[in-house]
Amino acid sequence: GPTDKGDFEHFMLKEIHEQPELIRSLTQFYFHGEGLESLKKAGSFKPSKFHMTACGTAYYAGLLIRDFLETYNKIPCAPELASEFRYRNPLLIEGESGLFISQSGETADTLAAQELCTESKLKTLSIVNVDGSTLFRNCDNNLLIRAGIEIGVASTKAFTQQVLTGRLLSLALSDELSEESKRVKLTSKFSLLAEKIDHLISRSKEIKDIAESVYNHKGFFYTGRGIYYPVALEGALKLKEIAYVHAEGYAAGELKHGPIAMIDEDMVNVALVGPELFEKTVSNIQEIKARKGVILTIGPKDHEELEELSDYYFGIDFDGLEELSPIYINIVNQLLAYYIAKYKGTDIDKPRNLAKSVTVE
Ligand code: G6P
Repeated sequence: GPTDKGDFEHFMLKEIHEQPELIRSLTQFYFHGEGLESLKKAGSFKPSKFHMTACGTAYYAGLLIRDFLETYNKIPCAPELASEFRYRNPLLIEGESGLFISQSGETADTLAAQELCTESKLKTLSIVNVDGSTLFRNCDNNLLIRAGIEIGVASTKAFTQQVLTGRLLSLALSDELSEESKRVKLTSKFSLLAEKIDHLISRSKEIKDIAESVYNHKGFFYTGRGIYYPVALEGALKLKEIAYVHAEGYAAGELKHGPIAMIDEDMVNVALVGPELFEKTVSNIQEIKARKGVILTIGPKDHEELEELSDYYFGIDFDGLEELSPIYINIVNQLLAYYIAKYKGTDIDKPRNLAKSVTVE
């Protein structure tokens, strides 16, 4: 059941393993009956702009959702941390919409951001896990991410489901739901992602071995560009949360504007390299290599040049994943953080100083 660990040593690992099944059931739900109705309803209001607010992992999921909304719907979307948004007098104009991403639906700052939007007469929409939560009750509209109960304090499956639900929202907003062919296409893309994650999980030992080699290093820079930048941020957050190691997520092209000064043989660069912006990201890796940084690349499989450049290489088959590929890379990051934390011997499911849901300011 959802509240016991079953055969797993930690809830976090169990929840990582649940992801393929949850992904499969998401399109099942949203492309039929009641689910389809709720998606249509969410897509029926087309705002002139989205103000996307969230905290922590949900915020990073929101960055990917921003890309969907701007790429597929051509609706401007401004992502903002809820704790900043609520205090900076944001310009909110009728006809725009507040979009809130949250696992618990109880995060104080996100709730305050929602109230602010409502006061300014914006329509509000949530992408949320907990049915009946405060956020769910306060928003005009909600899309449930259907991740089941998440117990590990470090969020894993909720991130994946949030991003995918955002992708479904983008489909609803462009009135493509009635087209059977579009639904079939997205369903098979989601299924392919699930299948590939099953395969990835079967390769966990490879990730564990890499973790064993790097876990004692001083610090970690996760780098990515474009759609891989949000998962660089999320990968670093995961490591900080559960392994108590200094880690930063950085836009690959921004490293030279400061942080590259920190690179030496005790620093690891976790380079996230997908098919998009490939060459540019590789040249950033070369810059780090030249400063003796340890290179751990998560990149396209069978890429000899990149493998040669890297100290550790985890190859991925990106075929067919397209805009969903950051989710896949993120699951490598989840497992990497998990195993590094395990070697460090931390309390993985209940990391020190953290709460599952931050209901006070
Ligand atoms: C806490 C949790 C994080 C989570 C964040 C936002 O800090 O430890 O894992 O990402 O809150 O929570 P929410 O429930 O709003 O997604």
